[in-house]
Amino acid sequence: MNISAKPVMKPEDFRLIKEFIAETFGLVLDEAKENYLALKLLPRIEELRLSTFAEYYSYLKFSPHSAEEHLKFISLITNNETYFFREEAQLKVFAETILPALKERKLKAGNRTIKIVSAGCSSGEEVYTLAMLILESGSFLWDWDVKIIGIDVDPQTIEKAKAGVYSGRAFQSTAVYYKERYFSKSEHGLQVRDILRKLTSFTQGNLLCFDRTLAEQDIDIIFCRNVMIYFNDDTIKRIVESFERILAKDGFLFLGHSESLSRISPHYLPLRFTGTIVYRLKERNG
Ligand SMILES: C[S@@+](CC[C@H](N)C(=O)[O-])C[C@H]1O[C@@H](n2cnc3c(N)ncnc32)[C@H](O)[C@@H]1O
Repeated sequence: MNISAKPVMKPEDFRLIKEFIAETFGLVLDEAKENYLALKLLPRIEELRLSTFAEYYSYLKFSPHSAEEHLKFISLITNNETYFFREEAQLKVFAETILPALKERKLKAGNRTIKIVSAGCSSGEEVYTLAMLILESGSFLWDWDVKIIGIDVDPQTIEKAKAGVYSGRAFQSTAVYYKERYFSKSEHGLQVRDILRKLTSFTQGNLLCFDRTLAEQDIDIIFCRNVMIYFNDDTIKRIVESFERILAKDGFLFLGHSESLSRISPHYLPLRFTGTIVYRLKERNG
């Protein structure tokens, strides 16, 4: 036996790990991802001094360190692509239509709080973008309490979001105005200013047990963009149902441009705008 040979992922290993990923995180890997998964997991297997993918699977599932390993594992396999001001048409609707409607509704109810969740926030660019748009709207200053909460299953992205230091592609769609106004120069890039930090917070959590991750209720808007493309319909239904439980009456849901609720839930009304759809939660008994 060649002791220096690298472990090889057998079809059975792939099947088991794939099932584990779907059950635990909702993510669906297609068959073509076998080599990709093997490459991602090899360094971890070497670090743990294991010899086969089957041993790694047992470690993930049954070792006393499995909870810790889940977090390392998920950081290896997630797609964290994101950047500031992603999907401009949608953000325009958020800033110019949804925020004013929300303000009017809140003022009528004598309630000056706004709660927004970015579910699958990756390294935080979406959360800080929403904070900038809210500040620019000038609508929720002074005695308003604004909270934008970012949640992601990948602990490394949450650390990055909390650090709030960005460079390069993160700014591919960001106007100079925003960079100058909301960021300051730091050793490793541009750092978000305190004015954004005051409105934002980040938590590591799994959307499959969203109710346990998030203590807040009556969320006004949930952004869950470019996350559910990796889930199957059953998982999407489960997550969308958990959104229903935490959304405020008439709360809004923003999905990514290639995501839709059409086959998923009758409980949201699609509001159609140029270039985008926003979903509004229907009356619970309606
Ligand atoms: C492609 S990024 C999208 C980031 C951002 N929403 C955007 O549109 O730019 C998808 C994010 O979803 C997260 N994610 C995947 N499965 C998740 C789960 N079960 N619970 C929470 N976050 C998850 C990934 O870690 C990743 O950071």
